[in-house]
Amino acid sequence: MIVAIDGPAATGKSTSAKLVAQKLGYTYLDTGAMYRCVTLSILRDDINLDDAPKLKALLDKLDIQLINKGEDSVVILNGEDVSSEIRQTEVTNHVSAVSALGLVRNALVQNQRRIANNQDCVIEGRDIGTIVFPDADVKFYLITNDRVRAERRQLDLESIGENKSIDTLIEEIHKRDKYDSERNHSPLRKAEDAIEVDTTNFTINGQVDHMVNKIKSIINRKINENE
Ligand code: DC
Repeated sequence: MIVAIDGPAATGKSTSAKLVAQKLGYTYLDTGAMYRCVTLSILRDDINLDDAPKLKALLDKLDIQLINKGEDSVVILNGEDVSSEIRQTEVTNHVSAVSALGLVRNALVQNQRRIANNQDCVIEGRDIGTIVFPDADVKFYLITNDRVRAERRQLDLESIGENKSIDTLIEEIHKRDKYDSERNHSPLRKAEDAIEVDTTNFTINGQVDHMVNKIKSIINRKINENE
């Protein structure tokens, strides 16, 4: 069973994906964290994005582990816990350019398919319902108004010691949306068969219940169809 959750930045994908996975007993896979790990590695090694051989060598030695411990998700990059570092502004400001590279996408998409093919999974990202798992059993596309997105991002940043104004955050979010949806490789877009959920006025619990109910009714419908 594959549940795909896509949508623009800061629409509540991670929070809802993690809780939906917990409620259903599925594995949670945060593909944005994988693109963030590649970005952090590139920044650390000071690799030029046009340097394909160096990028390839970096991707070949990349070992990313996403570990879920109850409420916490720990991201391990080549043996090091980078859970906080990958959320810092430096990484966020470069991740769209890195995730637009075909070389990077091919490597990570292969990885995502390998992880998710053997188990029930809730996977969140930008291209899960369109490219990575076009046949996903359930697809959601989350949207939220800009102010609420910026407020959520502000809280996330405060938790890692960074402070930014709402106006700056709205501007950054718009820039990232534009980049993510206009790139050539797997641009962000809603799959035709995705269920759109506007999370602006939902509480987290309300949003999660809404999504879990939709998933359960789709599972029940599939069971009935097969009987
Ligand atoms: O969800 P996030 O903010 O952690 O994602 C970081 C970036 O990674 C986002 O700007 C676009 C990219 N991304 C992607 O291109 N495809 C995915 N499946 C997930 C994320």
